[in-house]
Amino acid sequence: MSKLVINGGYPLCGVVRIQGAKNSVLPIMAAALLAEDECVIENVPDISDLHSAIEILSALGAQTTLYENKIVIDSRYAKGFEIPDTLMRKMRSSIMFLGAILSVSKRAKVSFPGGCEIGNRPIDLHISALKKMNVTIHDTFGYIDCETKGLLGANITLSFPSVGATENIMLAAVKADGVTVINNAAKEPEITDLQDFLNVMGGRVSGAGTSVITISGVKRLHGARYKIIPDRIVASTYLCAVAATRGNALFKNVDTQHLSVVLSLLRDAGCKIDEYHDSVSIECDKINHVDTVNLIRTMPYPGFPTDAGPPFVSLMALATGSTVFVETIFENRFKYIGELLRMGANIKVEGRVAVVEGVNRLYGTSVEAYDLRGGAALCVAGLAAEGETEILNAGYIERGYEHIDRDLQELGGKIELIDGGLQ
Ligand code: EPZ
Repeated sequence: MSKLVINGGYPLCGVVRIQGAKNSVLPIMAAALLAEDECVIENVPDISDLHSAIEILSALGAQTTLYENKIVIDSRYAKGFEIPDTLMRKMRSSIMFLGAILSVSKRAKVSFPGGCEIGNRPIDLHISALKKMNVTIHDTFGYIDCETKGLLGANITLSFPSVGATENIMLAAVKADGVTVINNAAKEPEITDLQDFLNVMGGRVSGAGTSVITISGVKRLHGARYKIIPDRIVASTYLCAVAATRGNALFKNVDTQHLSVVLSLLRDAGCKIDEYHDSVSIECDKINHVDTVNLIRTMPYPGFPTDAGPPFVSLMALATGSTVFVETIFENRFKYIGELLRMGANIKVEGRVAVVEGVNRLYGTSVEAYDLRGGAALCVAGLAAEGETEILNAGYIERGYEHIDRDLQELGGKIELIDGGLQ
């Protein structure tokens, strides 16, 4: 797998355009399976998770063409209903194809996605919702083998506002017979992006962004041209990197409404933030220290996003004072902290709580990425650290950050991707 080599201590300054949202393009690519003709999706990020989703669509019989951050998807001949085990293991969020495959083929067979680097990632909410929609799940160990005589609308209440479960239900419901109501639905911007795409295709979905989403099943969905929203987690990561290096940067293609909690905390930390129509600037070159924000608790949207936690921990590792991080979403999100300790950070972890004591300096060394956002945290730390940092297993980072080396080089970062290329 590739590695990133960073020579730290240089303030990040300049202008960078933020990529399209990974967590939007994946469910929208699943939704394209439902179209009776071509879909053109714009502003897609060229990341390895996108290529995994392309492999899944191809395995199902869809034709895809990717060029210049646009992807054309033709699902007219996509009659497959199985996702190969290798692909399920490559990207566990492939589970969100389940609802779309069932809608097209009335049958779906996927291997149990299992856990991943940050937690067990159960799918009980997905399964119980589909059962309410007239889906029969055959218990075969290691596989989810399901079929339906026809998807039926249902009134579903989620015990947790699961993003993936909300998306799977929307995809199963959009052509189901009848009306589906999702109570306690996830409210993330990516859910609204999926709703908007489904409606452009001829769907009848409303309420995304609130905790009640209503989907009235339609008979047909046609192709559509659609532009993905910006990636709020990539923007959060880069903002933390500029703050950690005391830089000064402007990020284009940003929806600041999706970043309000992160921007508020960066202001509390002493950064000067200015918001414009579709961009945001951050100035930290005039501050000699970053203030701690004392307590951060990750929450479902619109709370502080769990995915922005790791880069923010790296920033607080260099703040003045101590910060208590409470990770409420995933049970194993702190593996990267052991690597930050190797760089001189002072952080104590107990279960889902990390107490970060800010230090004056971090030191470059060889560290390992264990997951996507943990790897991003190591990038932020390496850019601020004194000396050279080598981040092994950088393929994890390439899953969600399009050319992270190019973006940070454009800001003056001394960073190289070695033995790169999408895994
Ligand atoms: C999506 O994952 C994102 N991934 C994650 O981003 C993000 O961290 C997460 O939502 C929360 O915002 C994609 O969109 C591809 P969940 P998802 O279902 O759908 C529990 C990244 O780095 N749960 O909202 O898997 C689960 O255990 C990734 O970009 C159940 O208990 O998240 C977790 O504690 C990481 N049963 C919580 O809900 C279920 O059936 C949140 O999971 C499903 C989930």
